[in-house]
Amino acid sequence: MLRIGVLVSGRGSNLQAIINGIEEGKINAKIELVVSDNPQAYALERSKKHGIPFQVVERKSFASKRDFEERMAELLKERSVQLVVLAGFMRILSKNFLKHFPNSVINIHPSLIPAFQGLHAQKQAVEFGAKFSGCTVHLVDESVDGGPVIVQAVVPVLPQDTEDTLSERILKFEHRILPQTVQWFAEGRVEVDGRKVIVRDARYGTLPVNPELEKF
Ligand code: GRF
Repeated sequence: MLRIGVLVSGRGSNLQAIINGIEEGKINAKIELVVSDNPQAYALERSKKHGIPFQVVERKSFASKRDFEERMAELLKERSVQLVVLAGFMRILSKNFLKHFPNSVINIHPSLIPAFQGLHAQKQAVEFGAKFSGCTVHLVDESVDGGPVIVQAVVPVLPQDTEDTLSERILKFEHRILPQTVQWFAEGRVEVDGRKVIVRDARYGTLPVNPELEKF
């Protein structure tokens, strides 16, 4: 059973997708801790409802970013977390945090990176006039939404799309590729070779999700 920690800042729909995957027996993992940097995050209600331990760690309670990150790392390590999942966590983690969890921090981003990194990725795609966007689960490095890609899902952008309608279409795939990735980690199938990540024995080469989804 993979021991995971989930970092959140807001609504927590991706956290919910992982909770559902675990409760439905599709993910062989346990959420040891949810950490939110925002005391108002709805994700905390979801944790409560499902009996998952949670902690609020606010940046403003610490003198430095380093101390803030050390506290989060300490809490996660106390619970022997093996995989850290950023699920709508709105802060950039430094190498001081990442060194505690080598190749074991993943993030979901609502674009096909390296397109539309940073905030409001869906708005960026609509305004750019892109015809396809999507979502990516990637390993977290010190860049902003630029770490090695594990899986991507392609989603069309329609002429009448607004930020909201595109976000909704992309979100449905976020809720599939993120839980699937957690399960790939639980199965020990994620192999990292520099920037190249391969999911062992996965089927590659199909649309719209590459590699192909198995359980989600
Ligand atoms: C998602 O669109 C995710 O891709 C981005 O932030 C949003 C979080 O949504 N990183 P939620 O809190 O999981 O509902």
